[in-house]
Amino acid sequence: MSTTPPPAAPDDAPDLRAENLRLAYDDRIVVDGLDLVVPPGRITAVVGANACGKSTLLRALARLLTPREGAVRLDGQAIHKVPTRQLAQRLGLLPQSPVAPEGLTVADLVTRGRSPHQTWWRQWSTGDEQAVREALAATSMTEHADRAVDELSGGQRQRAWIAMAVAQGTPILLLDEPTTYLDLAHQIDVLDLVTDLNRNEGRTVVMVLHDLNQACRYADHVVAMKSGRIAAEGPPGEVITAESVRDVFGLRCQVVADPVSGTPMVIPVGRHHTGDPAVTADDAVKVLGAPRGS
Ligand SMILES: Nc1ncnc2c1ncn2[C@@H]1O[C@H](COP(=O)(O)OP(=O)(O)O)[C@@H](O)[C@H]1O
Ligand SMILES: [Mg+2]
Repeated sequence: MSTTPPPAAPDDAPDLRAENLRLAYDDRIVVDGLDLVVPPGRITAVVGANACGKSTLLRALARLLTPREGAVRLDGQAIHKVPTRQLAQRLGLLPQSPVAPEGLTVADLVTRGRSPHQTWWRQWSTGDEQAVREALAATSMTEHADRAVDELSGGQRQRAWIAMAVAQGTPILLLDEPTTYLDLAHQIDVLDLVTDLNRNEGRTVVMVLHDLNQACRYADHVVAMKSGRIAAEGPPGEVITAESVRDVFGLRCQVVADPVSGTPMVIPVGRHHTGDPAVTADDAVKVLGAPRGS
């Protein structure tokens, strides 16, 4: 019923970890005392309330932010010592609100994803060509390849950026809210694509997601952040409980089994409902019919 389990991590799977990380903007400490070992060859979802430091953590993992204390290590080496090109071949980041230069076409943007693979002695190759073509196809952006990124809808623009990260072909993908601006069908497309990249190619993924149910369905490992620290981490079934959601998000909820995947599904209560279940998940399955493939 649930997704296929991840294959064993490849031998050369990246070892990305944060040790005793302190991150700050000016004199404001946003993340403190944070230790994280990113599970290699797995999908990790980072969840947490607004402003708890998720994007800040991702930026530090991608070396866009220098820690005040502690370090991020990639394969044992402090990340600030890894040469830039080498880092860009190992790790790709989709930032939360990327901005493309005015007039840049989708094809140009996705092509830029290949630049870490080029040198003065190895210019554009058929392999690059193929990577761009495949990334555009995987994100359903082929037909928009010649359009300017700044003229696309929010969802198309988001997919163009995802295509660039896919084309970069790095063993580590850091995605900050990759589903924001997307309608539900495209959200699922992107999460399925991320799963393909992990399950078929062994890529290590860390993504910030707001939707806890999607985090539980698509991630092998969930990191729940609260006020710049990790409040809980582990498999979705252990991390996402009514108690932890109340603690991390201040939200009263019920957690039931997702009728499609069997993973935790968070049903918020809110102030206008009692929280007494009118229907249980089992009833819902009876009403809606058993999910396909179950
Ligand atoms: N460039 C910045 N300069 C100053 N403060 C920032 C900057 N980016 C984020 N912050 C602050 O750091 C805190 C954490 O932000 P962020 O990591 O973006 O949170 P999240 O992604 O969890 O919503 C917030 O209080 C935010 O206002
Ligand atoms: Mg953020």
